[in-house]
Amino acid sequence: MIFKQIKSGGDRNFAYLAGCQKTRDGALVDPAPDPEAVMKAVNGHGVNIRFIINTHSHHDHSSGNEYFKKLPYPPRFIHCSEDTRVKDGEVLKMGELIIKFIYTPGHTKDSICIKIEDKLLTGDTLFVGKVGGTWSSKDAKTQFCSLKKIFTLPAHTEIWPGHDVGVKPSSTIGFEAEKNPFIKRLSDFDDFLWLKKNWSTYKNEHGIK
Ligand SMILES: [Fe+2]
Repeated sequence: MIFKQIKSGGDRNFAYLAGCQKTRDGALVDPAPDPEAVMKAVNGHGVNIRFIINTHSHHDHSSGNEYFKKLPYPPRFIHCSEDTRVKDGEVLKMGELIIKFIYTPGHTKDSICIKIEDKLLTGDTLFVGKVGGTWSSKDAKTQFCSLKKIFTLPAHTEIWPGHDVGVKPSSTIGFEAEKNPFIKRLSDFDDFLWLKKNWSTYKNEHGIK
C-alpha cells in the first residue's frame, strides 16, 4: 500500500494519499486547505488520483475539492457533498485495496472515519491525545457513541488524524485507549462531558499543549 501523510496548510491540517501498490490507483483524503501543496507532495509517487474523499464538510478539509474538479481527468468525489455521502459500513474498492467508511458523527453531523487496511483516518473525530470539538452536550453524546464504536477496533489499528495537534503525528487505538484522557472516559459520559467543559483548565494543569 502506498500511504503518505501530507502537511496541507491551515491549522496544522493533514491530508492523506493512499494508493494501491499494484494498480497505482489512489485517493486523496481532505486535500485542503492548500491543494497545491498536496499535489506537490503527491507528484513523484506515480499514483493516479481516482478519488477525493472528505472526512467531513468543514471548510479546512473540503475547500480543496474545487481545485481537483479542474484537473484534466477529474477524480470521483466521495462524501464531498449531499449527493456523494457514504453510509456507515459502505466499502469502496481501489485497486486491490478496500476502503471502509465508518460513520462517526459528533464533531459534525457528517463526520466519517476511513479505514484502509490497518490504518484509520479519523478526520476531526479523534486526534492524538484529544478529540474534535463539539458545540452542545447532545453533540458531545453523539461523538461519545461514535468514539465507543471505533474503540472496538484492534489495539494495533493506526490512527491518522486530520490535524497535527498531539505529541506525535499518528498513533494507535491501543496508545489512545491508554493515554488519551477523553478515551479513558469512554465508560462514563458525564465524566467525558466534564472533561470537554473543563478542557482548557485540565490542559493547563496537565501541561498539555
Ligand atoms: Fe472540523
